[in-house]
Amino acid sequence: MKALVYQGPGQKAWADKDKPEIQKPTDVIVKITKTTICGTDLHILKGDVPTVDAGRTLGHEGVGVVEAVGAAVENFKPGDAVLISCVTSCGKCANCKRQLYAHCSDGGWILGHLIDGTQAEYVRIPHGDNSLYPIPDGADEEALVMLSDIMPTGLEIGVQYGNVKPGDTIAIIGAGPVGMSVLLTAQFYSPGRIVMIDMDPARLELAKQFGATDTIQVGAEDPVAKILEMTGGLGVDVAIEAVGVPATFDICQKIVSAGGNIANVGVHGTPVQLHIEELWIKNINISMGLVSTNTTPMLLKTLNAGKVNPGKLVTHRFKLDEILEAYEVFGNAAREKAMKVILNA
Ligand SMILES: NC(=O)c1ccc[n+]([C@@H]2O[C@H](COP(=O)([O-])OP(=O)(O)OC[C@H]3O[C@@H](n4cnc5c(N)ncnc54)[C@H](O)[C@@H]3O)[C@@H](O)[C@H]2O)c1
Ligand SMILES: [Zn+2]
Ligand SMILES: [Zn+2]
Repeated sequence: MKALVYQGPGQKAWADKDKPEIQKPTDVIVKITKTTICGTDLHILKGDVPTVDAGRTLGHEGVGVVEAVGAAVENFKPGDAVLISCVTSCGKCANCKRQLYAHCSDGGWILGHLIDGTQAEYVRIPHGDNSLYPIPDGADEEALVMLSDIMPTGLEIGVQYGNVKPGDTIAIIGAGPVGMSVLLTAQFYSPGRIVMIDMDPARLELAKQFGATDTIQVGAEDPVAKILEMTGGLGVDVAIEAVGVPATFDICQKIVSAGGNIANVGVHGTPVQLHIEELWIKNINISMGLVSTNTTPMLLKTLNAGKVNPGKLVTHRFKLDEILEAYEVFGNAAREKAMKVILNA
């Protein structure tokens, strides 16, 4: 079969690989029908994630059809359409028992990281019963691909950790796929005002279409001064960081109101300075973490009921064997006006 193979920093190829086989009784082999590329894949390609070995198939998102199941798999059979979670979970360990699947003792984020991933014709999913979800009849498969990673990330680490409440004023820094997922899922909780902050005017325009009440363009405006002006000097109830650099975490520290929350979603590679000398007196909470995808069942229900449409994040479509071209487009997202790309097998 063919797969998108990481060959060390800066190098990748659409190459031949052995078709995966059942290795453990709990494994499921899935034939991919749709997959996508994540910002994390770009980080890996830059060499930012040294735990990824050369030869690894990338990708941790997608939908497909069950090809084969191990002897212990009870919930799925060949021919079933499934959604693949970016987080693998055994369902039995101490962390899985408290729904902290991100820290499963035999799983977590391993797909396209420590084991071969979804940017391939076939993928092996360990602990299939707990790491796959049946696809409802007639579901929009492009929208479902957004439920593998970005939508649960936005909801769990941005909205739920940030404790977004009805009427709140919230700010989301970073209007990429993850920030947009925060924007879409925050609306479940009816915040009063949603301010989207980014430097890319095209992404801010899209954010307005997706429900942002206000936008601030970094570079053209000072986000801290603007937020303080908008809120009568109080700041925002929830500041959500969806970029992963010190400058944006700093904005959050300066705009959070007394009693508010800073929810960090971004993956950071360098330390940030915590301004505890200013924040200690403000009765705030700071949260951060890796997505567990424990909200996937709830997101499936909201998608089914038409309460949210993450399919609108898809801007480009390619055939799976055009994946190198898709990487070019996704890697130049601002120039190409790209948000999420779908690869159709
Ligand atoms: N915590 C988790 O479990 C988890 C899961 C998935 C992704 N992430 C992380 O979430 C972050 C966002 O992911 P993404 O795919 O949306 O990334 P992205 O790179 O597509 O989007 C980031 C956005 O931030 C904007 N930006 C960059 N610098 C800025 C600045 N100084 N001020 C304002 N805006 C700025 C960019 O223009 C871009 O629109 C990444 O760090 C990613 O690794 C975390
Ligand atoms: Zn991802
Ligand atoms: Zn577990």
